[in-house]
Amino acid sequence: MRAVEIIIKKRDKGELTREEIEFFVRGFTRGEIPDYQVSAWAMAVLLNGMTPRETTDLTLAMAHSGAVMDLSDVVKIAVDKHSTGGVGDKTSLVVLPVVAACGLPVGKMSGRGLGFSGGTLDKMESIPGYRCDLTTEEFKRQLKETGIVLTGQSLDLAPADGKLYALRDVTGTVQSIPLIASSVMSKKIAAGAQAILLDVKVGLGAFMQTLDESRELAKLMVSIGELARRRVVTLLSDMNQPLGNAVGNALEVREAIETLHGGGPPDFREHCLTVSAHMLTLGGVAPHLAAGRALAERALDEGPAWQKFRALVAAQGGDAAYVDDPDRLPHARSVEGVNAPRSGYLAQVHARLVGEASLALGAGRIQKGDLVEHSVGILVHHKVGDFVEKGQPLFTIHANDPARQAEARKCVLKAHLWSDEPVAPLPIFYDN
Ligand code: URA
Repeated sequence: MRAVEIIIKKRDKGELTREEIEFFVRGFTRGEIPDYQVSAWAMAVLLNGMTPRETTDLTLAMAHSGAVMDLSDVVKIAVDKHSTGGVGDKTSLVVLPVVAACGLPVGKMSGRGLGFSGGTLDKMESIPGYRCDLTTEEFKRQLKETGIVLTGQSLDLAPADGKLYALRDVTGTVQSIPLIASSVMSKKIAAGAQAILLDVKVGLGAFMQTLDESRELAKLMVSIGELARRRVVTLLSDMNQPLGNAVGNALEVREAIETLHGGGPPDFREHCLTVSAHMLTLGGVAPHLAAGRALAERALDEGPAWQKFRALVAAQGGDAAYVDDPDRLPHARSVEGVNAPRSGYLAQVHARLVGEASLALGAGRIQKGDLVEHSVGILVHHKVGDFVEKGQPLFTIHANDPARQAEARKCVLKAHLWSDEPVAPLPIFYDN
């Protein structure tokens, strides 16, 4: 078999066999198939799709491209969560401490920014010293001792996904339902999850722009989960406007900390409470969603979730002084408030444009291996449906470079659309 034949077959809309998929995944995991061929193949998949059978074969090949973790000696049930990626999505920073504080140990391997969407690891690395490179042994030990882990995908778990993810980020091949489904599910299977809560984002700032597409992605991941004998629950959540107010790594950590202290933006808190309630129910800590939600509220409002977050930071080498006093987290050189250019109801706060502005400021990567600037980003001050008076603060830019700042200002102004008539607020979740 030759890699080029597999690329040509997919380019010509053929259906790949399991053997061809396994050959290709094995080849690029070992470095025998170069990045340029993997990129061409990913583009062919993006353009021509994969059948559910091909996607399942790809998922399993990637899941087994390295070690598969067994957590049965560490936790009663391994519950995991995953978001398909969005703008201002700092959910894991809050939900993991909440569920761990409620008695459900949780260990998660997260990713870095992908395209315009932020990555949990980049956010956590705003905290000086925080390590995202735990070994499997360290992961298990910390899960047992502290009940919470938030780290990067260790190199020996689903290495094929690690390689493909980094390439897709810089080759315009992120928005593919089979590639997203196999990426998410291979990681979860390799990380030993028995029950998985999938937060599928939909809207202008998500990889899936329509409810139909996101439902298709959700259904595909549930069916892959069934074949791999994992319980999968999906939520469809809005990503037309940023989640919460903060977009950008250190800014998002600050907002997560506010939320862990019982405050934070209402939409973000509500989102976290719902995700936590589902995880607590999946993990058997709560008999039903309402009970899970009540536990989660208490964990946020009475301090245990914050204490868990602090324990997480300390366990992974982070300097807890920076989360105790979030003003110590990295600051950008310039902080510019931009006021509303007119009065009116906000009809749109285009999440993708805000995400792209944050990327342009340096919060994400334009090229594979780019260094991330943790201090930069944007705070949006209003939500769709709000009435804003001319001259009221609309958004704030945190920037290190004047040219990038000007570009971001233009982009975020464009992200805000206005209406003279009242506009209904956006929902936080949609029906599955
Ligand atoms: N999250 C992932 O893990 N993979 C993707 O491809 C998209 C979002």
